[in-house]
Amino acid sequence: MNCRRITCAAAPLLLDGCAGSQNALGGDGADAANFVRLFIIFIVVCTAMYALVIAGLFGALWRRRREPLTVETGRHDEDAPLFSRALAVWAALIVIGLAGLTLASFLADRSNAAAAKNPKLSINITGNQWWWDIEYVSNDPSKSFRTANEVHLPVGVPVEVTLQSNDVIHSFWIPNLAGKQDLIPGRVTDIQLLPHKAGLYRGQCAEFCGVQHAHMALDVTVENKADFDRWVAAQQRPAFAPATPLELAGYRYVTTRECSVCHNITGTPASARVAPDLTHFASRRSIAAGTMPMSTGNLYGWVADPQSQKQGNNMPTVGLAPDELHAIVAYLERLK
Ligand code: CUA
Repeated sequence: MNCRRITCAAAPLLLDGCAGSQNALGGDGADAANFVRLFIIFIVVCTAMYALVIAGLFGALWRRRREPLTVETGRHDEDAPLFSRALAVWAALIVIGLAGLTLASFLADRSNAAAAKNPKLSINITGNQWWWDIEYVSNDPSKSFRTANEVHLPVGVPVEVTLQSNDVIHSFWIPNLAGKQDLIPGRVTDIQLLPHKAGLYRGQCAEFCGVQHAHMALDVTVENKADFDRWVAAQQRPAFAPATPLELAGYRYVTTRECSVCHNITGTPASARVAPDLTHFASRRSIAAGTMPMSTGNLYGWVADPQSQKQGNNMPTVGLAPDELHAIVAYLERLK
């Protein structure tokens, strides 16, 4: 029987969908697939128990209506042995049901622990109000690189994700792939991912962390190994140099003025670490941790007035002149 199909039938009741890039019933990773199986087992067992209770209730009502009560006890005398038997069967069913659910939970937990043993890839993720700082770690430090708000994962490869927070408690959650793991200031936590299926997914901070908690999303691309290796090679390169006079003007502004106080662009004088790394900014799918899709129009809006786009974030509204804004946007779009 197809488990996904059963889940789909139940999904509308749970205000969830079967398809979708942010779907806890997607089962597109090892942990998530275990959770989906566990979810179906719980639904089936609990529904069966509920149906038995309702059937017993209607059975009792039917018997009571059919025959008159005895005056002394208020109950059918011949019901006593039947009542005892039913009670014993019901107690046994409860014990078996609960033991079965406990065993299923235990096995799912063991399976999750075993799925991503011997990780082949390490990623450090740091939560910030309200964005994700992401570092792909290599044994060769010159091959390590940083990005923000977007992770790429090779399909079928176990990944170790180490999690920290710079400010408050956040929670790392890619529903299609695995469960949640908190990021706690002053502590290091971790989660293992083993994606089964290529696709574009959406992660979301799952712990309220301030006014823009809802705008703390994570774009996730699961792709085949060759595409992943190409992406890694592109990310490891320094930023593209400006190619037009307008881009050059933008480069000069971004690497010497306000932007360079917070952002890093590898291969340029901008080397700060307190805001998202911009080295390959324009290769990403969204702006400001999933707040808006990457597009020229959205980029103009964001650079011109980040406070009106995502109120309370740490990027100030600078008050740029129109020619400065054009130049900055042109340069940022060069950072593929
Ligand atoms: Cu970070 Cu909610």
